[in-house]
This record gives sequence, C-alpha cells and structure tokens, in this order.
Amino acid sequence: MVQPLGGEGSPAPAIPIDADAFNRFEAAGWEARASSYAFLSPITGRVIGALLGAVQAGPDTQLLDVGSGPGDLAAAAAERGADPVGIDVAPSMVRRAAMAHPGIPFRVGSFEAIPGGAGSFDAVVGNFVFNHVGRPAVALAEAHRVLRPGGRLALSTWDAARHNRILGLLLDAIEAAEAPPPPGLPPGPTNFRTDAELRALFEAAGFADVGVSHLHYEARIPDTDTLWHGVLDSAVRIPPLVTGQAPDIQARIRAAFDRLCAPHARDDGSLAIPVAVQVTQGRRP
Ligand SMILES: C[S@@+](CC[C@H](N)C(=O)[O-])C[C@H]1O[C@@H](n2cnc3c(N)ncnc32)[C@H](O)[C@@H]1O
Repeated sequence: MVQPLGGEGSPAPAIPIDADAFNRFEAAGWEARASSYAFLSPITGRVIGALLGAVQAGPDTQLLDVGSGPGDLAAAAAERGADPVGIDVAPSMVRRAAMAHPGIPFRVGSFEAIPGGAGSFDAVVGNFVFNHVGRPAVALAEAHRVLRPGGRLALSTWDAARHNRILGLLLDAIEAAEAPPPPGLPPGPTNFRTDAELRALFEAAGFADVGVSHLHYEARIPDTDTLWHGVLDSAVRIPPLVTGQAPDIQARIRAAFDRLCAPHARDDGSLAIPVAVQVTQGRRP
C-alpha cells in the first residue's frame, strides 16, 4: 500500500503525525473540489440509505450531516421528514450544497469542533468524511457531545483497497510503478481501518451498541479514461501521488492502471468496478 495514505490496518506511525498540517491540506484540497466532485457523488450516494437507516432517521429527527459536501445526504434525510443541518470544512462545498438544496441549512464547520450545543442532535451522520479527519478521536468525542443520550452516530469509510477497487486500482498502479511519495503530502492517520479498529475508536469515545456493516456494490464507469480522470478530479490525497511524479513515472502509473482495469471491462467497453464500504454505527448511552 502507498505509504502517505497509510496501509490497511497499519499501526499508528511511530512519529506523531502533524494533524494540523494534514487538516490544512485536506481543507484546501476540498475547497478546490466543489466543482469537480461530480464523479464520486453518485458512488458515495449509494451509501446514504444505509447511513440514514443506521441512525433511524425519520420524521422530526434532528440530524447533523458532517462533511456534507454537495448536500445529497441531508436532502435525502429531509425527504424522510427529518430536520437536517449540514456542516463542511470547505466553504465552496457549503455554497454548492446551499444552492442545490435551498431549504436546508449548510454551514462551514469542522468535525473536530462541531458548531452546536451538547445534546442538540438525535443523529449524526458522515458519508466518507471520517477518513479525512486528522484527529479521529476528537471528531468522535465531538459527535458524542452533540448527540442527545440515546442518539445515534453512523459513519461510512472506504474499505481496504483490495476490496474497494474504485480507489484501489489507482493505488495499486502507483505501487506497481514504484512511485516515491511526493514531497509536501502530509501523512495522516491510517486511511483504511479494520473493523476492529473502527469498533475500538467508537467504543473509546463512549459509544455503545457499536457495529460495523459492509456494503458491496458495483460502479459502472464508461471507460478507463473516465475512471482515471474521475478519481484524479474528485479525490484529495491520491492525485498528488500521480501528478507529483516525473512524466516517465506518471506514464508508468497510467500503463499499470490500464493493465489493472482490463479485467473489469465488459463487452460494451464499460468497466464494472467493485466498491466496498464500511458503515460504523454506535449509540450514545
Ligand atoms: C469525500 S467528500 C464526501 C462528501 C459527501 N458526504 C458525499 O458523500 O458525497 C468529503 C467531504 O468532507 C469534507 N471534510 C473534510 N474534512 C472535514 C472536516 N474535518 N470537517 C468537516 N468536513 C470535512 C470535505 O470538504 C468534503 O466535502
């Protein structure tokens, strides 16, 4: 696995990471992604139902969508009769969500310092944000604080690259090309966590009834080029692993990527890519 993103289940780095540098890198990256996130939205959107189900979102549920991005999860919650609020660290994402869903409040805010009083939500939900937070334990403590007793938290994360090929194909190609980590990419907490690690983090933050479920589905992508550019345009930490390389290494990565994509090709030329996601849930006692 490519080191700057952390390996599956890899132990915490011996040297403490610079969580502020990591968070700054993430925030700046997402700020630039609001208009190019279109590729990943339909893929992450397929987890929304599971997250809303896990927190039992229904009529009048006071729900916080953390890392709300384009706001699709908050909108789906509102369709169920819930009262959603979205927060996101990137002002451009907040503007995009507010424009798409004018009836829902979206605000700039961080998972590590949630704007809101203690016990103010019935449910906290985050679709693919937990893996972008420099201090996961602080984020979980914040979710615990803003939940009322009995309130529920559910977070989705990408499963390990060997299962989640939507990112794994490019990560494997980078590794196959023996591309060195580019300078200026701050290391963060482990990107792919095992179920046991996710469970332990939730339990350490005081959550009860903690469970991890797995979602597996297929993303149909028109062709290899669309997948290549889609990931490079929608992700934050993977693109520099490619664009930060010398041209010959970039060419090696692309050749490896084409080779790895080939077995996923269907008769019409499209790709059928396995997607694998963990949904971790817990209840504030
Ligand atoms: C992968 S996108 C997911 C967006 C949306 N939840 C979805 O599923 O389409 C990650 C989002 O989390 C936001 N984000 C990253 N770090 C954050 C943090 N510490 N606090 C709040 N939002 C954060 C990003 O700006 C981005 O909108």
